[in-house]
Amino acid sequence: MRQSLVVGNWKMNGSYEANRSLINGIKQNIASVKNSEMAVCPPFVYLSQMKRLLKDTNIGWGAQNVSQQEPGAFTGEIAIGMLVDFDCKYVIVGHSERRSLYGESDELIAEKFATVQAAGLIPILCIGELLEEREAGNTEAVVKRQLDAVLNSQGVASLEKSVIAYEPVWAIGTGKTATPQQAQDVHAFIRGQISALDAKVAEKVQILYGGSVKGSNAKELFAMPDIDGGLIGGASLKADDFLAIGQAG
Ligand code: PGA
Repeated sequence: MRQSLVVGNWKMNGSYEANRSLINGIKQNIASVKNSEMAVCPPFVYLSQMKRLLKDTNIGWGAQNVSQQEPGAFTGEIAIGMLVDFDCKYVIVGHSERRSLYGESDELIAEKFATVQAAGLIPILCIGELLEEREAGNTEAVVKRQLDAVLNSQGVASLEKSVIAYEPVWAIGTGKTATPQQAQDVHAFIRGQISALDAKVAEKVQILYGGSVKGSNAKELFAMPDIDGGLIGGASLKADDFLAIGQAG
């Protein structure tokens, strides 16, 4: 039985004050979350605040991105050692906004994935198709290509200490959730691809769903056999919604 995992991706949202009240709200009722591990990924500059606010809790934290480079002359970038300094557990790599707005390629994302693992942190690898790719019947080919970039360079065993997030791009921030069956079909496809290489790794790896998950739809999504939790954007910014999603795990 895979542990349910619910991760908040705050994107470029938050402020010192807003974060404090959000985290306090989550902490107050975290006991209502029985079956999910919870984590939040704020913007980099708030990681020290998370370390302070969350250190004695069972809520984890992580980053939304990382450089694949060693420390050096890379203005504006963040090295993995800096995330280690702030006790990050997770690092999101390959979010669709990084792919589409910042031109991150499958190869670069595979490098970032390797960088995160080499430092002993857990990469959350995001994959998912655009609306036009789904409509053209290419969903499986797209997620396979995105997954293969990591499988081919890092090997299947690398997935054992990683999390995959399937996020159909047309469902992100749109209020348009994939149906549980649509999501399950792609999750089963992803697990099947991994299973063809290593059944034990496939059985173990957590595959999260992301894309307009809310307290009201989380339960039916998480009830699907290959959906092991969620990567949550908008709804992770409200304590009650985030907790309700955790309770659905
Ligand atoms: P959303 O974002 O929940 O706001 O759709 C999910 C994500 O981008 O990870």
